[in-house]
Amino acid sequence: MNKRLGVLLSGRGSNFEALADSITANRIPNAEIAIVLSNREGAPGLDRAKSRNIPARAIPSKGLERETYDREVVAVLNEHKVDLVCLAGYMRLLSPYFVGAFPNGILNIHPSLLPSFPGLESQRQALEYGVKFAGCTVHFVDENLDAGPIVLQAVVPVNDDDTEDSLSAKILQEEHKIYSEAVRIVLEGRYKIEGRRVLHTNGRSM
Ligand code: GAR
Repeated sequence: MNKRLGVLLSGRGSNFEALADSITANRIPNAEIAIVLSNREGAPGLDRAKSRNIPARAIPSKGLERETYDREVVAVLNEHKVDLVCLAGYMRLLSPYFVGAFPNGILNIHPSLLPSFPGLESQRQALEYGVKFAGCTVHFVDENLDAGPIVLQAVVPVNDDDTEDSLSAKILQEEHKIYSEAVRIVLEGRYKIEGRRVLHTNGRSM
């Protein structure tokens, strides 16, 4: 039986599309995207999902306490029998309730080499800091911001003529590759966690 992914996004949805393409191309075997959810009505990623005939809906977060909101989201993920939650440009911290509902079952993609430059505008932070290499990180999610054990990272060089846009585009290309690789590793159980370290192994199914 296919493993069922739930994708949470707040905006454009290019990482969601990269995951969907990888599933179609069998780079992530035995998987399907069961539901795409957004905290923002009108997030372009929702339309991108619907045009692929993937169920998608907004659950507006406005005015709700974090845990109250997360209980709604977790209920919908459970209704769709989601095995693995993938945050793909989902701009919200998760409550301990949400994290506890999916033990080692939530991944996030972040556009920096964590633990450098967590939070917003990571590519701009990297450029302004003057680092010579930037990149992206896929990590398990805990209740802290852009924290949790790291599954995969990819590095891109920062050139003197890079702008925030050109650096973001280079990083995004790598995001699309490593997110699919990381999802595959996790679904196939090809890892173990020791402390903060995710060690890659030969695997069992999730
Ligand atoms: C991506 O660059 C992703 O890494 C970032 O938001 C963008 C979403 O793009 N996520 C974060 O900054 C999370 N802290 P997308 O909607 O096209 O996938």
